[in-house]
Amino acid sequence: MKHLSVNHLLGIKYLNKSDIDLIFETADHFKEVINRPIKKVPSLRDITIANLFFENSTRTKLSFEIAEKRLSADILNFSAAQSSVKKGETLIDTVNNILSMKVDVIVMRHPNVGAGVFLSKHIDAKIINAGDGTHEHPTQALLDSYSIREKLGNVKGKKVVIIGDILHSRVALSNIFALQLQGAEVKVCGPTTLIPKHIASLGVTVETNLKKALEWCDVANVLRVQNERMDINYFPSTREYTQLFGINQQILDNLDKKIIIMHPGPINRGVEITSDVADSSQSIILNQVENGVAIRMAVIYLLAQQIKR
Ligand code: CP
Repeated sequence: MKHLSVNHLLGIKYLNKSDIDLIFETADHFKEVINRPIKKVPSLRDITIANLFFENSTRTKLSFEIAEKRLSADILNFSAAQSSVKKGETLIDTVNNILSMKVDVIVMRHPNVGAGVFLSKHIDAKIINAGDGTHEHPTQALLDSYSIREKLGNVKGKKVVIIGDILHSRVALSNIFALQLQGAEVKVCGPTTLIPKHIASLGVTVETNLKKALEWCDVANVLRVQNERMDINYFPSTREYTQLFGINQQILDNLDKKIIIMHPGPINRGVEITSDVADSSQSIILNQVENGVAIRMAVIYLLAQQIKR
């Protein structure tokens, strides 16, 4: 049996190409399982997983939860807003209390960069990073690449542009690492104020002209402006942002090819993407969500194989 080279999924930067191939092969199997009339396998009947969400989530939280249920794991769901974190309890105390209940795997979303790495050094459980601040969102990048592979046959050699608020985006960084590991070419496009200064050191090129970026690419991954992470104005107005970087059907119709449109969600319809594009046949946004379940089943399954019983 093949194994992951890592003990936790803390970020794509810790993975190699063989890890991604193994996750995708395993996800292929689970995708077939979840499309059967009986969508459940008994693989993780003796495993307990805690989903710790210190930040809001719809897709990631529900996707992990259903992936765990499909694998027959026992689940604890924790939301910081309704917890004793509000009374001042620290992250380590919170997690150690949860681990005392004999939990094997922690899935954690946290506003602080490196929260997953920190936990992995202090506690004895498998950690899966479900998004740490502006840093990484590894399962999102895996499901994004898996969806490109499903649609185009391969990620290698494909041209992918990530459009929007790159500066505050953990999806962008994890996608850059994942796409490059698989041999894709990556560009970013957005207002210069929302592009990190170090972006060239990641081997990524910048295009500030949306039309040129779309003419170049096979796939456009459109990101939301993360107003909740901004304490200053990075562009004059939402209206101007939409005029310069919003994707609408007219822009796509003027290209001489049909590109694929992706978005990790949540979508701000009418800001970074119009409804007609989000809901069009070029959009694979809901395929991404569907694939997220198979990818998360694969990641949990592969990490759980390492647990000594
Ligand atoms: N893509 C994503 O992380 O969405 P949620 O914030 O709803 O989990």
